[in-house]
Amino acid sequence: MPLSLVDSASHPDFAAASLRSTPPARTMGRISIEAFSPTHATIGGREILTFGGCGYLGLSHHPRVRAALIESLDTLGLSTSASRETTGNTLTHEALELDLASFLNTESAILTPEGYTANLALAQALAWRYRVAIVDERSHRSVGHAVAAAGLDVHTFEHLSAGQAASLAARHADRGVVIYTDGVFAADGSVAPADKLYAALPERNSLLIIDDCHGFCVLGDNGRGTASQFGIAGPRLCITTTLAKGLGCYGGAIAGPGDLIRDIQTHAGVYRGTTPVPPPIAASARAALAVVAQDGSLVQSLRSNIAHMRSILSAAGLRFPEPAVPIFTFMLDSTERMEAIHHALFERGILAPLIEYPGGPASRYFRLSITAAHTAEHIDRLGRELAALIRMAA
Ligand SMILES: Cc1ncc(COP(=O)(O)O)c(C=O)c1O
Repeated sequence: MPLSLVDSASHPDFAAASLRSTPPARTMGRISIEAFSPTHATIGGREILTFGGCGYLGLSHHPRVRAALIESLDTLGLSTSASRETTGNTLTHEALELDLASFLNTESAILTPEGYTANLALAQALAWRYRVAIVDERSHRSVGHAVAAAGLDVHTFEHLSAGQAASLAARHADRGVVIYTDGVFAADGSVAPADKLYAALPERNSLLIIDDCHGFCVLGDNGRGTASQFGIAGPRLCITTTLAKGLGCYGGAIAGPGDLIRDIQTHAGVYRGTTPVPPPIAASARAALAVVAQDGSLVQSLRSNIAHMRSILSAAGLRFPEPAVPIFTFMLDSTERMEAIHHALFERGILAPLIEYPGGPASRYFRLSITAAHTAEHIDRLGRELAALIRMAA
């Protein structure tokens, strides 16, 4: 059965906040999924082994995460139906914030409805202290949207170029500068040189912000993220993240210095004027975080799967940069060949996403991902089928 594709190229959102002047994104389209597990999806009645998405630890189906959701649903219901600063605050939200700050090694943390709105809310608060945002050109669209909407003076630097970021920061040092980058870039799997970006900050009135949606639960000490990976911490560091990827839940968070988090609580309309993450989801995110914090084996499994996947794909002639992440992007010599392989894999029961999305190595490319829940057999099967198809199509 062919994949059912819905072209989303014409959606106005794609024209929105990309920082680059390249054409807007076109995805491979929507797949209608009937059932889902961390490693498989039922599509058109068939069970397909999937190498897509960002549920890196496979926590969305974890028994402790599901149990926390149901228990909280019984006591708090599905929605607070009010913003937190009016009557919609719960102990569960507060406890999750404390847990996140502790795990991410920051003074404080605050929840937002999603990772996207974490960047919007943060930028609204930043505008009270900083005038200039210096942003990696391939940062997530929510970052570009956020700094522009907050009215900051935005300058972009070449992807991963700490040198360019440093020159721009020095030029604007007296105006209050934030350097903004993704920790792990979702489209190409590259990792920001976070230590060098931190060193590029002017001494006074400056902040490094890492959107760590794809580094949280993946890089650093037991998944503490990109800042941990590069050994940076302190009052000039702020982290935004989603709860939907590594933790397998939903929602967003900002972790950083206490005064900045208080600014968000006081000034950010995106935080103050929205209903928070439903309490059962906050409870499940807390349970997911506890699983990660208490049991290092999940992050370890992810890392051994990444190593296995890298070696399998390198046997098929593909190479990936360091440090290793669970995202594998590559292209072959022609679009027709990639499409043929994508469809042949699907016929063999494997989903290897072929996407069009800004920030990757080409306009159309494979973006595969791996989770802690994949088995060695899953990865071997992909490697076998992919290598045979690449040979056949050569
Ligand atoms: C780097 C980055 N930032 C922000 C977001 C938005 O997170 P959420 O889906 O929780 O809104 C995403 C999600 O795709 C992302 O990849």
